[in-house]
Amino acid sequence: MPDLQHKRILLGITGGVAAYKAAELTRLLIKAGADVRVAMSAAATQFVTPLTFQALSGKPVLTQLWDTDVDNGMAHIELTRAVDAVLIAPASADFIAKLVHGLADDLLSTLCLARACPLLVAPAMNQKMWENPATQRNIHQLRGDGVTLLGPAAGEQACGETGLGRMLEPAELLAGLSAYFQPKLLAGLRVLVSAGPTLEMIDPVRAITNISSGKMGYAVARAAYEAGAEVTLVSGVTCRETPLGVTRLSVTSAGEMAQAVESRAHHADIFVSVAAVADYRPASYTAQKIKKSEHTLTLDLLPNEDILMRIASRADAPFCVGFAAETENLLEHGEAKRQRKRLPLLVVNRAQDALGSDGNELLLLDDAGQHLLPQADKLTLARQLITHIAQLYTHKTRGSHAAPD
Ligand code: CTP
Repeated sequence: MPDLQHKRILLGITGGVAAYKAAELTRLLIKAGADVRVAMSAAATQFVTPLTFQALSGKPVLTQLWDTDVDNGMAHIELTRAVDAVLIAPASADFIAKLVHGLADDLLSTLCLARACPLLVAPAMNQKMWENPATQRNIHQLRGDGVTLLGPAAGEQACGETGLGRMLEPAELLAGLSAYFQPKLLAGLRVLVSAGPTLEMIDPVRAITNISSGKMGYAVARAAYEAGAEVTLVSGVTCRETPLGVTRLSVTSAGEMAQAVESRAHHADIFVSVAAVADYRPASYTAQKIKKSEHTLTLDLLPNEDILMRIASRADAPFCVGFAAETENLLEHGEAKRQRKRLPLLVVNRAQDALGSDGNELLLLDDAGQHLLPQADKLTLARQLITHIAQLYTHKTRGSHAAPD
């Protein structure tokens, strides 16, 4: 099912160059299954015409407070009664100030004041405007009023300056909105995720690695963030974008991954080890490129440490979840691996189907037995897995805090 199926979103657009990105955002929202109604401030119509948004949303665009044709002339009240959320993107510094002070001098500001639904705001402004104490005071107040901020991002700005204040990209705003609607099952918890392949250099141009794409681990990191956790992702080399809200640490070899995981594990409540860690590394690294010859070349390999097993065996171990890629006898091999690594939960998948693909089927093994998560895309599976982890984690912590009889 698309992410925002049956969600009714009122997209408010205010004046700023980033208004052009709201066109792509409207398209993505519709594609994600949302029912979108667009309202624009007068300044926004100077950047992009209402006609563009009418064509993209399939509905008339609202611009006038006194438009008596719409909703009996009570659009500012009616509109927010019939939506699940209002998203202002882009939100100018001026509009944010209006929100903070409860001003209501046009349709968009009035409907924000009259709303009976959550409000999400994606700031977009020049970096000096963002840094200005007045804006920072307003942002602080907005958060205090229960408004959800999406961004801003740092980077190059339309004015040529560089800094914080750029609106998030449309795909990130879509991810932020989807996250907003997910249940906060891991609120207040810190989750550490490892993902992707590791790479062991043989000489300056050759390496031993595997075909893991990182898709599953990145989906788990995203789903944990959506569930309200503070997420750190230790990632091997992949071409994946860091999920919104996730802190990423990039590593290359299994040794580097072990160090990065080890140094964060004591802060984590939950560790999900999705990475395809190389089991062996070359016994020695050759500083110059190995030249070819007609003779057989033998590589000596040394075993790498099992990162998950080491973390799971610590006295202060977080709740550890392993992944197992198996080619046969999934249940037997999986359960043996779970016992050997002493894990409360192990996720088994068929290596031939899992590596690199967009979808998968997962078999969850825990103390209660086995649970199948049937074929679905990896984000859907990751969300289901996070729900299962949250249940086990809550059970475990309730158990350990239970009062004696
Ligand atoms: N793992 C790890 N460190 C390693 C090898 C694996 O932390 N050096 C973790 C993986 O991230 C995964 C789990 O252990 O969560 C199982 O990995 P898998 O490759 O399926 O199994 P192995 O333990 O390597 O055993 P085998 O390759 O023999 O199946």
